Amino acid sequence: MTTAHSYSRLGIAKRLRRLRSSEPMRALVRETRLSPDNFVLPLFVCEGEGVRREVPSMPAVFNLSVDEAVKEAAAARADGVNAVLLFGLPDHKDDIGSSAYDPEAPVQAAIRAIKREVPGVLVITDVCLCEYTDHGHCGLLIDNEIANDPTVDQLVRAAVSHAAAGADIVAPSDMMDGRVGAIRAGLDDRGYDNVVIMSYAAKYCSAFYGPFRDAAGSTPKFGDRRSHQMDPANVDEALREVEQDIEEGADIVMVKPALAYLDVIARVKEAFGYPTAAYHVSGEYAMLKAAARNGWIDEPRAMMETLTAIRRAGAEIIITYYAREAARALA
Ligand code: PBG
Repeated sequence: MTTAHSYSRLGIAKRLRRLRSSEPMRALVRETRLSPDNFVLPLFVCEGEGVRREVPSMPAVFNLSVDEAVKEAAAARADGVNAVLLFGLPDHKDDIGSSAYDPEAPVQAAIRAIKREVPGVLVITDVCLCEYTDHGHCGLLIDNEIANDPTVDQLVRAAVSHAAAGADIVAPSDMMDGRVGAIRAGLDDRGYDNVVIMSYAAKYCSAFYGPFRDAAGSTPKFGDRRSHQMDPANVDEALREVEQDIEEGADIVMVKPALAYLDVIARVKEAFGYPTAAYHVSGEYAMLKAAARNGWIDEPRAMMETLTAIRRAGAEIIITYYAREAARALA
């Protein structure tokens, strides 16, 4: 006879379902919690005034002029998100990426404006050349190869100009060798020893950056990024990258992308115990948005499940285009 009574006499001592019986019970034993404190919102800053242009492949993400970037930072703060990551879309591009360290370029202007108008928001800047070079590569080209050391000199100039404008954190995303140590020394020499370095330490050569390159106009004109970004198949190498960046002075280390690299996040966190960031990148965001638009997934649930997984893997810092939406959902 298969009644409830007869099952109860099976003598099952451990019933894991007991702790799932109601929401307060589930909340009581929940292991991973998300907070808006974990989130960083990326912003794409362009020239002009009053510009707010939606990126076609990234719904609800915009190219913003400085005045609009300030509004967006203020809106993020109102939602509970206290950190933004700035990317620059300068009109002027050349073969050495000189707009990367132009004090009047969009990023430098946005840093000053956000620090002035929205105090309390941490301003993080992406340090790379790909948004600033006319060929779209992350560094200086010599015979069509990215030349490591001359590129590092340019990155130091960019990082120092961000610090001079008031950035709290600089985030080198170029994957050149030795750039963290060079940036640390360059900042310290000029008295910016309190500026934090968040290194894109384990950055993979990923197909999931596609929509970003539309947003930032940074698709390489020829070739790819395989000579500096990591092979998706490797994880021991990621640990070596992270170790080297920590030795060179990184304060925070990042794994990027996030969802396809949760094992890397977990291993990095376990091996080093450093503040660990994960970048939930443009393609990961675009996939959820596209599926949601088709009515194929429940977007709010898929968003929270994704962000929870990244947090559970070990990242306390999550860079995501969903930052505002997720913060509102948590409120
Ligand atoms: C490079 C940079 C990229 C991203 C962040 N910094 C693009 C790339 O390496 O091609 C991608 C972020 C995203 O896809 O959301 N400056």
